[in-house]
Amino acid sequence: MHRQESDIDHLPSKPPSVIAIYPGSFDPITNGHLDLIQRGSRLFDKLIVSILRNETKQPLFSVEERIEMLREVVHVYPNVEVDSFHGLLVDYAAAQSATVLLRGIRAISDYEYELQMALMNRRLQPGIETLFMMANEAYSFISSRLVKEVFGLGGNIGGLVPPSVEARLHRRLDNAKHKGA
Ligand code: PNS
Repeated sequence: MHRQESDIDHLPSKPPSVIAIYPGSFDPITNGHLDLIQRGSRLFDKLIVSILRNETKQPLFSVEERIEMLREVVHVYPNVEVDSFHGLLVDYAAAQSATVLLRGIRAISDYEYELQMALMNRRLQPGIETLFMMANEAYSFISSRLVKEVFGLGGNIGGLVPPSVEARLHRRLDNAKHKGA
């Protein structure tokens, strides 16, 4: 019996060097993101961590600050690069010759939105696959949004973000206090 022809049959086969994009806001990078980056660095020939330039969102850190923060922590992984992008993620990925989009899934609540994005991206660029990975369960409750909220209300964020990011958050708060004084 013949297998039914599938869309996948027409896609290019595995490239000699597999490039993955790990896209996101990273405002700021958390230990959950970092865990995923470390895992991804073991799987792909090149992993590009790329920050969305989104004019409609009001971030805590500028894209340039976020690039700096990411570079400070990923420089230990020689095959990981940091970049930024605007426009459609799949267009950016194709321009980088990437064939994989890496996304982290924490809880089942992440899944619905991630599934929608993955299927939309596949429709736009069938040759690019989305790969979901789970960070260490110790980080499964961490999000950039909660880190900012807890920090802003005086809570302890030790162990949730890299020390260099925590230091930057403290500097940001001190500056804001001086300006307010
Ligand atoms: O860390 P985030 O904010 O959850 O990341 C969301 C991101 C950047 C992956 C998503 O918003 C995105 O890819 N934006 C680029 C625009 C785009 O391609 N939109 C269509 C996605 S289906």
